[in-house]
This record gives sequence, structure tokens and C-alpha cells, in this order.
Amino acid sequence: MKFFIDSGNLDDITRMVPLGIVDGVTTNPSLMAKEKGDPREIIRKICQVVKGPVSAEVIATDVAGMIAQGRELASIDPHVVVKVPFTREGVEATKVLSGEGHRVNVTLIFSPTQALIAAKVGAAYVSPFVGRLDDIATDGMALIEQIVEIYGHYDFRTEILVASVRHPMHIVEAARMGADVCTCPPSVIEACFKHPLTDIGLEKFLKDWHKSQEAKG
Ligand code: E4P
Repeated sequence: MKFFIDSGNLDDITRMVPLGIVDGVTTNPSLMAKEKGDPREIIRKICQVVKGPVSAEVIATDVAGMIAQGRELASIDPHVVVKVPFTREGVEATKVLSGEGHRVNVTLIFSPTQALIAAKVGAAYVSPFVGRLDDIATDGMALIEQIVEIYGHYDFRTEILVASVRHPMHIVEAARMGADVCTCPPSVIEACFKHPLTDIGLEKFLKDWHKSQEAKG
């Protein structure tokens, strides 16, 4: 399973890249709104650092506007994936953009039918938002299970990108279900590095080693 970082913060992304587990990045208008500077330049720099797929979202809501913005975003860097919301207009724009060879990430997916339609129009990725479903007492991961099952029956090339990830258990379940990608806020990746037994174990190993060295004189 690929790990993407769900952030528009260049510093956070740059800090995570040396870990060797960052396969790509997803941004959205809310994330980009938090950042200072020219959004185009930020996306370009993220692409240079990550050297993998970087989703940048259109703001337009009409078909022509989404297509124009999608083409413009794609021209920033070959790593850019155009992110388009799942609306009627978004689906139409996805058909055109993917037909032109642009990779499209259809976002704000909350149902299996939306995922099926996005795949049919050639989306490179679908982004089901698991955390936001959990927030309204609906099982977000059950949606991933359904999409994995549906896509398994056909030859779609669309990758299932688990989004709105809130904690490491979402990662565990996504991997168990065979999702292609999990996009995680940096805090969720950081949480995967914390295990008290690892800390206690390492402390004991080092203590035992140093004690033996002192005993040897
Ligand atoms: C996905 O690509 C979105 O950027 C993101 O995962 C949304 O997450 P949120 O529900 O935590 O805002």
C-alpha cells in the first residue's frame, strides 16, 4: 500500500520524505488555504521534493472551468494529479481530462456508486473520505470494503485512495482490505512511530549492554 501525505505544508512534507515511505501527496483547498505564498509555487516545490503523484484540486465548479483549471494545474509539473470533486460537472470534466491523458483524482467520494462512476470515466484515483463518514456515525471503512469488492470484479485502473484518515487503525484496515493508497496527515504517520514496548525494549537493550561494558572494566 502506498502512503501519501495529506498536507500542503512543504516543511512537514520535506521532513517526512527521508523516511522513505512517502509515495505522494494530496492537497485540498482547505489545506492550501492554510499555507502562505503562491499555491502554484507550493505545488511545484512539493512535486520536486516528493517526486511522486501530488494531487492539486480545482476550485471551479462548472465543467469548462474545471477543465481549464485542470489543464493549468497539470502544466505545473508532470507529477501533478488533478483533483476534481465528485459532482455531475466533475464527472464530465474527469472524462475530458483523463481522455487528454491527465491523471485525475476524484474526491469527496462517500458512496460506492460514486466510486463506480468515477472509475468508468477514467479516474486515476478515487478518494473516499472515511473519517468524515465516521464523524456522522457511518462506518467509513465499510465503504472501502465495498469499493475494493466492486473494483475487484472489473479491469478498472482506478486506484483506491483512502482519504480523511484520522488514526493508525484506518491505515491498518485499509491495508488489510488491499486499498492502493492511504493519504495521512503527518500526525497520523508520526503516531505509527510510537510504541511504548519499542521504547521500553530499546531502553533495556542499551542499559544491559552498557552495564556489561562497565563490568568488563
Ligand atoms: C483527501 O484527499 C483530503 O485532502 C483529506 O483526506 C480530507 O480529510 P479531512 O476529512 O480530515 O479534512
